[in-house]
Amino acid sequence: MSATNPPPMPVDDTTARRKDAHLDLCATEEVAPVENATLFERVFLVHCAMPELSFDQLDLTTPLFGKRLKAPLLVTGMTGGTERAMQVNRDVALVAEEFGVAFGVGSQRAMAERPELTRTFAVRDVAPSTVIIGNIGLVQAVRLGVDGVHRLFEGVSADAMAVHLNPGQELTQPEGDRDFRGGYAILGELVKRLGADRVLVKETGCGISPDVARRLVEVGVRNIDVSGLGGTSWVRVEQLRAEGVAREVGAQFSGWGIPTAAAVASVRKAVGPGVTLIAAGGMRTGLDVAKAITLGADIGGMALPLFRAHQEGGVAKVREAMTTIVTALKQALVLTGCRTPPELRQKPRVVTGELKDWMAAL
Ligand SMILES: Cc1cc2nc3c(=O)[nH]c(=O)nc-3n(C[C@H](O)[C@H](O)[C@H](O)COP(=O)(O)O)c2cc1C
Repeated sequence: MSATNPPPMPVDDTTARRKDAHLDLCATEEVAPVENATLFERVFLVHCAMPELSFDQLDLTTPLFGKRLKAPLLVTGMTGGTERAMQVNRDVALVAEEFGVAFGVGSQRAMAERPELTRTFAVRDVAPSTVIIGNIGLVQAVRLGVDGVHRLFEGVSADAMAVHLNPGQELTQPEGDRDFRGGYAILGELVKRLGADRVLVKETGCGISPDVARRLVEVGVRNIDVSGLGGTSWVRVEQLRAEGVAREVGAQFSGWGIPTAAAVASVRKAVGPGVTLIAAGGMRTGLDVAKAITLGADIGGMALPLFRAHQEGGVAKVREAMTTIVTALKQALVLTGCRTPPELRQKPRVVTGELKDWMAAL
């Protein structure tokens, strides 16, 4: 199979229907197993009793994909392809615009198969100044080739294109992909075609190791979202849909992955300062985001909490969730004596227990 001469994608609505089944499971089931930890609970920031700062004069602005976010936050890619998914995208993107944070659409595979579904991903009209990030799976990117991925990127007027890595999910999904070859090659081609500042490589809940991060950097990738263990587990989501052997094996692997805090710290150590690093996977609070920045992240990303807020009460609840996150992040900055997020890295922090072990091993 050639990346530049892709075979046609199958045309049916299986992909879109599967996405709605995923939304149902994510809305109500235990898709983020409590026994899986990000290990941010093993990070302690040091209290500053004399901050000498005004809460209202903090500067949270953060560069991303040629624009400036008002806060170092990203709603990571979730959905698209159905009417229900379209509503989630539009409502959450609207709040992203209000708060000046970045917004990712979900996998555009359904759109590649059925271009008439573009409208279920397109949010530029409700989020004119937002950093919008397109999304496609690595295996689909190999099949579509750079031209096909470029079409998806342009189809949603995106600022960048995320390519997601999800071998754990695919292996647990009975109809999932089993051949993961050709990934670095297509990413290298994509970086050349779109530009290094337009490509983001993300995991989906199992994390990115320092070794993989180093190889990504070698092929030109400059933006990495580790999406580690501790939040939504796609192995668990697929396990809940599966029967028989897949259900049993899925159960064994639903705690598989690199805890997000360990992934952030070790990837930053491996790739140095020239890479924009996003901490996602089980990030639930502004304090988690502050801890992630301390360990080397530039931006914090969240999916499930914002989806669930939307399910609970639409735009109003997403707004409330976002306000809580931003307020806590600001509070963490003041209480550590930092006016800007990057200053967090200059401050002492305490890392204990299991996270210390992970950081020593990676
Ligand atoms: C409902 C839902 C749908 C998702 N769909 C996608 C997707 O299409 N593409 C993708 O790259 N990641 C997808 N993800 C993964 C998230 O972007 C993120 O990497 C992961 O869920 C970890 O973050 P969380 O613990 O905050 O949910 C999805 C997550 C959720 C909750």
